[in-house]
Amino acid sequence: MSGRALSFGAMAAAYERFRPGYPEELFEQVAAYAGRPLRTALEIGAGTGKATRLFARRGVAVTAIEPDAAMLAELRKHVPASVRTLQALFEDVRPGETYGLVYAAAALHWTDPDGRWPRVAALLEPGGVFACFGAPTNLSDPALVEAVREARAPFLESDEVPSPDGTPPGQEMRWPGTELLRSDWFTDVRQAKIERAFTMSGRDYVAHLSTVSAYLMLPDAEREEAFRRIADVLPETVDITSNITVHLARRSAEAHAGANSQ
Ligand SMILES: C[S@@+](CC[C@H](N)C(=O)[O-])C[C@H]1O[C@@H](n2cnc3c(N)ncnc32)[C@H](O)[C@@H]1O
Repeated sequence: MSGRALSFGAMAAAYERFRPGYPEELFEQVAAYAGRPLRTALEIGAGTGKATRLFARRGVAVTAIEPDAAMLAELRKHVPASVRTLQALFEDVRPGETYGLVYAAAALHWTDPDGRWPRVAALLEPGGVFACFGAPTNLSDPALVEAVREARAPFLESDEVPSPDGTPPGQEMRWPGTELLRSDWFTDVRQAKIERAFTMSGRDYVAHLSTVSAYLMLPDAEREEAFRRIADVLPETVDITSNITVHLARRSAEAHAGANSQ
C-alpha cells in the first residue's frame, strides 16, 4: 500500500474540520437506487466518518473499515455508538459476512486494484448495492486556479489523484463507473452528480489543502512554503465548487454464484 494512501492520519483533526461532509440528498439517491430498505452497510476507508454518520443516522447498521488509527479515533468522536469499526485495509477484510450496501467515499482509489471487484461482490448480499462517491474541493474562479497552480508549481505539478484506469478528463463516464461497466460482477451501473457550491475563507482553503495527500507527501519545509505562497495569492474568501460524483451498481446474479467460490 502506498504511503500516499495512508498519509491522512497525520492530519485527522484538520481532515474532520476542513473537509466538507456529505448531504442527505446523497443518502436519498443511494436509497432510491437500492429500491429496498438499506439495513446493513460496509464502508471502505471511512476516515473520520463523514459518510459513516450520513448512513448511520438514517438507521443503517454501518461497519466502518479504516486502516489508520488516528482517523479511526477521530471517527469515534462523530458517529453513534452503534457503528461497528474495524481497523483494517479493505484487502484484509475476510469474506463471510455480507451486507445490503458496500460503499466508499473518496477512498476506493486507494485500495488495491488487484481483486478489488470480486472482493466487493463477495461482501454484498444477492441484489446488494455498491456505491462509490467523491467530491473534489475546487476553486470556482479559473484565474485563482491558475494563480494557485503557479504558486504550487515549484513544489508540486498537480495536487489531483490521477484516474486509476486512465479515463481521459473529457469522458462522460468516470472511474470507477468505467470499470463497473466492464465487470461481470455488477449490473445496472449508473453515474449521477450532486452539485454543490459554497464559500470559505482563503485561510480555510489552505487548511483544507493540508489534508490533501499530494501535499502530505511533501517534505515539511516545502509544504509550508507551498502553503505560504498559495495563501499569498488567495483573497479573504473564495468560491468553491464541490460537486459529488456518485457511482451505483448492483451485484449481478451470476456474480453471486461465482463469488463464494473465490
Ligand atoms: C480521502 S480519505 C476519505 C475518508 C472518508 N471516507 C471521507 O470521505 O471523508 C481516504 C481514506 O481511505 C483510507 N485508506 C487508504 N487505503 C485504504 C485501504 N487499502 N483500505 C481501506 N481504507 C484505505 C485512508 O486511511 C483514508 O482514511
